[in-house]
Amino acid sequence: MHFELSEEHKMIREAAREFAQELKPGVIERDEKALFPNEFVRKMGELGFMGIMTPVEYGGAGLDTLAYVLALEEIAKIDASAAVIMSAHNSLVLWGLNEYGTEEQKQKYLVPLAQGEKLGAFALSEPEAGSDASSQHTRAEDKGDYYLLNGTKNWITNGGNADIYLVIAQTHPELGHRGINVLIVEKGMEGFTIGPKENKLGIRSSDTHSLMFSDVKVPKENRIGEDGFGFKFAMKTLDGGRIGIAAQALGIAAGAYDLALAYAKERKTFGKPISQHQAIQFKLADMEVDIEAARLLTYKAAWTKDQGLPYGKMAAMAKLHASEVAMKHTVEAVQIHGGYGYVKEYHVERLMRDAKITQIYEGTSEIQRLVIAREILK
Ligand code: CAA
Repeated sequence: MHFELSEEHKMIREAAREFAQELKPGVIERDEKALFPNEFVRKMGELGFMGIMTPVEYGGAGLDTLAYVLALEEIAKIDASAAVIMSAHNSLVLWGLNEYGTEEQKQKYLVPLAQGEKLGAFALSEPEAGSDASSQHTRAEDKGDYYLLNGTKNWITNGGNADIYLVIAQTHPELGHRGINVLIVEKGMEGFTIGPKENKLGIRSSDTHSLMFSDVKVPKENRIGEDGFGFKFAMKTLDGGRIGIAAQALGIAAGAYDLALAYAKERKTFGKPISQHQAIQFKLADMEVDIEAARLLTYKAAWTKDQGLPYGKMAAMAKLHASEVAMKHTVEAVQIHGGYGYVKEYHVERLMRDAKITQIYEGTSEIQRLVIAREILK
């Protein structure tokens, strides 16, 4: 048992912490106006964060999942939108391309994605296929040397700004989830249109769109894996993605805690700092305990993946706990700030709004419980 981070991991955390400071000045405006942080996504590419786990030979930084989690946590403390942009790109697009893509697919798509020149998006959810992910209505009809893609995807993170999309679609409905494929679709392919940006409660500077496919011809060589591998590909991708969302949730919780702690030491009522009142001390103590537990679960999930061990259950546990802690303690951080917590300048109301989505995307809390229960009852 070894709880100390390596010098390399500490350096990565420090680099992310430093970068996150650059995100701070404009974060309220980007949230308010729902502005995509283009220049910072470019900078994350330059720093290697947009290909952090991709091997060096494919343009990435070649680091492990723990490094990824440490960087995401620091970025999410300041700007949870920037964190999800990085997370969806790395976990849901680059990981699967590297793991299951052909050499040609890697050279053509993975390299520019890992170098931060292009942005990726993962398109699984549909108007009627959210939690029930195998119920895909989008069709990828086999036409010999291409697939004819038709359907609609919903809630796609990076939907408007991405260049490369991994689209899950049904090819053989009679085979159920075993008939599903995953196709690499490029922005600009004829018949592919992007719907309007969603006006969201939180993570407002990340862009979420629906995608429409109308007779899009996708070359056969853009299918990842064997015919019918798409559902398993999606499930495996989400296992890793959940570690990224756990790190995002952890960062949101820790960011709110940092702010609440600093405020509690400064703000005076009844002649002393509010941190000297037991009511506030109880809140701070609970935050410290819960956030540390979320951190341990998240780092352990990353470590489990890095060891090559099965990590689906650990990922679901980390995501479930970290997202619930993020929601609970961002609310508490607002409470500690009192009226100031309710206005934008103090950041905690944004973190509270940002926290909610971590209990919903990449599987709701209920889905995480289902994944965990299935594993323990096996
Ligand atoms: N790894 C590998 N294979 C897996 C797997 C995993 N983690 N989970 C399931 N499978 C396989 C099963 O072994 C089974 O294969 P066989 O038929 O060969 O035996 C097959 O997949 C079907 O499994 P289930 O019967 O268990 O599937 P199910 O239909 O009951 O669904 C579920 C299981 C866990 C509920 C799944 O549908 C799920 O995870 N739903 C949530 C979807 C989700 O997270 N969506 C988020 C969208 S992406 C997003 O949010 C991104 C963003 O914006 C940031």
